[in-house]
Amino acid sequence: MKPIQIGLLGLGTVGSGVFHVLTRNQAEIQRRAGRGIALTVAARRDLAAARAIVGDAVRLVTDPMAVARDPAIEIVVECIGGTGIARDAVMAAIDSGKHVVTANKALLALHGNEIFAAAHAKGVMVAFEAAVAGGIPIIKALREGLTANRIEWVAGIVNGTTNFILTEMREKGLPFATVLAEAQRLGYAEADPAFDIDGIDAGHKTAIMSAIAFGVPVQFDRAHVEGIRQLEAIDIRYAEKLGYRIKLLGITRRRPDGIELRVHPTLVPMKRLIASVEGAMNAVLVQGDAVGTTLYYGKGAGAEPTASAVVADLVDVTRLATADPDHRVPHLAFQPGALSDLPVLPIAEARTAFYLRLAVADEAGVLAAITGVLAQHGISIDGMLQRESAEGERQTDIVILTHVTREGAMRAAMTELQALPTVVAPIVSLRKEELA
Ligand code: HSE
Repeated sequence: MKPIQIGLLGLGTVGSGVFHVLTRNQAEIQRRAGRGIALTVAARRDLAAARAIVGDAVRLVTDPMAVARDPAIEIVVECIGGTGIARDAVMAAIDSGKHVVTANKALLALHGNEIFAAAHAKGVMVAFEAAVAGGIPIIKALREGLTANRIEWVAGIVNGTTNFILTEMREKGLPFATVLAEAQRLGYAEADPAFDIDGIDAGHKTAIMSAIAFGVPVQFDRAHVEGIRQLEAIDIRYAEKLGYRIKLLGITRRRPDGIELRVHPTLVPMKRLIASVEGAMNAVLVQGDAVGTTLYYGKGAGAEPTASAVVADLVDVTRLATADPDHRVPHLAFQPGALSDLPVLPIAEARTAFYLRLAVADEAGVLAAITGVLAQHGISIDGMLQRESAEGERQTDIVILTHVTREGAMRAAMTELQALPTVVAPIVSLRKEELA
């Protein structure tokens, strides 16, 4: 059979990784796919830089749309990133009847529903394993491996940059800003690190996992997203004393009345395997009713780990290209006509436990007042720690861990706590998940 013809959009880190993996493992990949996979054309604005990567092996052009519309191309691999040209090129490729493989989480989080609808109408595939957690085959696991299960929740460390920063802050006791500068110097964080450190990248990935886990549309716009900018080293230390690590988790959970979809720094018990995921590594926990808890771990970024996922998609699409479109695995795991309209719950309806740090005047009755407010709001205390004040010091820190409560109740309680005259600084609150 004639090799399937591939057009590549973007020859940066991921695109060049795809070229190298495809070239190096060509024979092995063909044995698996049952057909050769031929990268015949690639688009990059800087042709000299592109030539330095691919040599004479691939025809080069500057215009991604020329590849997206090229009648000889059967699969378009989008490695441009962002939601501008990438979106136009993906829509043009689908419109031209081509299958698409993309690593672009922002594109799918923001425009996935439109892209999947267009692909369904045209009978083409859009594959996106690389969009979530890089080289970890989490999309395949959620969509196919766990298909027997009613998935209950998914919780993941899906941003390597922030996990690297949190690890360094904990291990070296350094403040956030110092570690961010180091991450930028090492090339982990982007020059504009906001997407990573404000949780947006993790939010994109969590919204995609949520859609596949529960058979709902991709709803990044409804996600509650917090990053790690505000996190202080002292809270990492207190958490550690209480037996917890702080991780930026993307969490999505099915509840009877809706779906929780949130990204925020989270206390995780040290005894959970995911708490030991350090540096730039990623990991995703999935809870299914039949299988129980499963954990997926690996590199979430980088040229070849990401290319590993892109090329796996290429093999999948190559195998299924001749299959009846109605018999392929649906884009969002569930048949398009069987998507659920279960709403994403507002954050006030989320159910989670909390870590609170209160700077208080060290005098009689302070603790009673605090526990009284929590009790009035039906919030039960799970653990507590009070820093011993130094000689002559009139102020101390009280750290409280609560049992699971409704977030709205905690917000109301915190407003009252903050108004107590003995609470002398803004209260720090973090969410805590047992992940049991
Ligand atoms: N910026 C992402 C991270 C990598 O730090 O994990 C690509 O998704």
